[in-house]
Amino acid sequence: MADLKVAFVTGGGSGIGRASALTLAHEGMAVVVADADAEAAAATAAVIVGKGGRADHIQVDVTDEAGVRDAVAFTTDRFGPLSAAVNSAGIQGELAPAGECTRENWERTLSVNLTGTWLCMKEELAAMLPAKSGSIVNLASNFGLVGKPRIPAYCASKHGVVGLTKSAALDYAQLGIRINAVCPGPISTPLLDKLATDAGAMGSTMRKEVEESVPMGRLGRANEVAAAIAWLCSATASFVTGAALPVDGGFVVG
Ligand SMILES: NC(=O)c1ccc[n+]([C@@H]2O[C@H](COP(=O)([O-])OP(=O)(O)OC[C@H]3O[C@@H](n4cnc5c(N)ncnc54)[C@H](O)[C@@H]3O)[C@@H](O)[C@H]2O)c1
Repeated sequence: MADLKVAFVTGGGSGIGRASALTLAHEGMAVVVADADAEAAAATAAVIVGKGGRADHIQVDVTDEAGVRDAVAFTTDRFGPLSAAVNSAGIQGELAPAGECTRENWERTLSVNLTGTWLCMKEELAAMLPAKSGSIVNLASNFGLVGKPRIPAYCASKHGVVGLTKSAALDYAQLGIRINAVCPGPISTPLLDKLATDAGAMGSTMRKEVEESVPMGRLGRANEVAAAIAWLCSATASFVTGAALPVDGGFVVG
């Protein structure tokens, strides 16, 4: 990873974003941890610094264009030219069939997961273009590749992230910037815990069903997704762009 030095990680306060920040820092990168939850972002950065790495944090709402611009500028001012970005900030939204999905839930979920990813990409691309070098990894989902009932806005947003990733990968293929998506299956993080909590009395049954739906018979771990993200960020993935890589214990092929 000698050519990659500075990473910007949204959603870095929790789950997959946190694990990605820790993994990239472990591989020698300086990392800015960006999250709507400032305390969580600070905690991740503190873990990195405590282990002797370089990190800082910033509070950002990925739906706020000016805030995202400031957060990316903070990153390059603090550590230098941006070489990698992981767009992990995301929400699941409410559970309801498409016909019962509220407009508020629809707009909030699309706004954070899809518009937020695009707003971050715009600033990350602008920061990477001068050096004609960089790697962006967007968090899609298995449900960016296949459907799932009762979560229409999330499903639509994640299919959107896959489409956005493919289109942008083509735009920047000859400009030195690789853009990929990872599509995790069920990963044990606070986001998945919330899904079980929201299901109420059905929560524990649902969790068991989710585990059984994975061909490998278990939930994934955030650091297993982070390992794939770190590879996509690294020079060893130099010929990989526009991929939507499942990290899912076989879920989408099962
Ligand atoms: N956990 C899974 O099973 C799973 C599966 C597939 C895809 N994903 C995707 O991976 C990504 C990370 O998920 P996770 O499980 O780590 O979730 P998580 O809830 O553990 O972490 C998400 C983080 O994003 C932050 N965030 C939310 N809205 C934000 C906003 N508007 N601006 C900035 N930060 C914001 C939260 O504060 C939180 O720290 C999400 O995009 C999610 O959709 C997760």
